[in-house]
Amino acid sequence: MSDAGKEWEIRPEASGDAPAVGALVAKAFGPGRFAKSAYRLREGVDPEPGLSFVAVENAVLRGSVRFWPIFVGRQPALLLGPLAVESDQRGRGLGIALMERGIAEAKRLGHRAVILVGDAPYYARVGFAQLPKDSVKFPGPVDKGRILGLALVDGALESLTGEVARARIDRPVCAAGAAVGPGGGLVINTG
Ligand SMILES: CC(C)(COP(=O)(O)OP(=O)(O)OC[C@H]1O[C@@H](n2cnc3c(N)ncnc32)[C@H](O)[C@@H]1OP(=O)(O)O)[C@@H](O)C(=O)NCCC(=O)NCCS
Repeated sequence: MSDAGKEWEIRPEASGDAPAVGALVAKAFGPGRFAKSAYRLREGVDPEPGLSFVAVENAVLRGSVRFWPIFVGRQPALLLGPLAVESDQRGRGLGIALMERGIAEAKRLGHRAVILVGDAPYYARVGFAQLPKDSVKFPGPVDKGRILGLALVDGALESLTGEVARARIDRPVCAAGAAVGPGGGLVINTG
């Protein structure tokens, strides 16, 4: 889409966006998201700082993307997702624009590689390619043909082998989809 016809903008996610982002992700993925292998890697972890972006139009949230800190074997990397666009706003280029912004910023911040679980034909549009089967092992069942990677520095995918794990844990997790809050209260994750 040409910039001339576009009324939306991509900007960093602000703390006040969290409820709307949570609602969008819940609508886009449903309760089944908690069972996903990629979700295990986000449990109890805050998104990588500076790498969450939203698409907004006239102050209304249209889409969102976040990235998470992981290790693949001993290599630090990022996990992309969730990426979600409001159902009545799809096909306007927001999904690609959100990813392009995040990827550019990740590169600028010195990250080396991004992986995700998703549809190869879509993510190929921003440079993702299937990783060699069995090179990367997620914590739980994943369709291996959907494990995709993007090198942010030359050769970064070649050393990307091993188990995928959270790079840090920000909150202790006590049940699927729930984490213990700072005061000991239960926090239900919605994103
Ligand atoms: C996937 C999603 C983020 C795409 O957002 P979007 O803003 O519509 O994407 P864009 O407008 O940037 O790109 C649209 C193009 O990608 C294509 N596309 C969208 N999803 C695709 C998919 N799963 N596989 C292949 N192509 C896809 C569209 O057909 C369209 O093609 P065109 O440009 O030739 O018409 C959006 O559909 C969504 O939120 N889906 C629900 C959540 C989800 O599935 N997230 C991804 C997890 S893998």
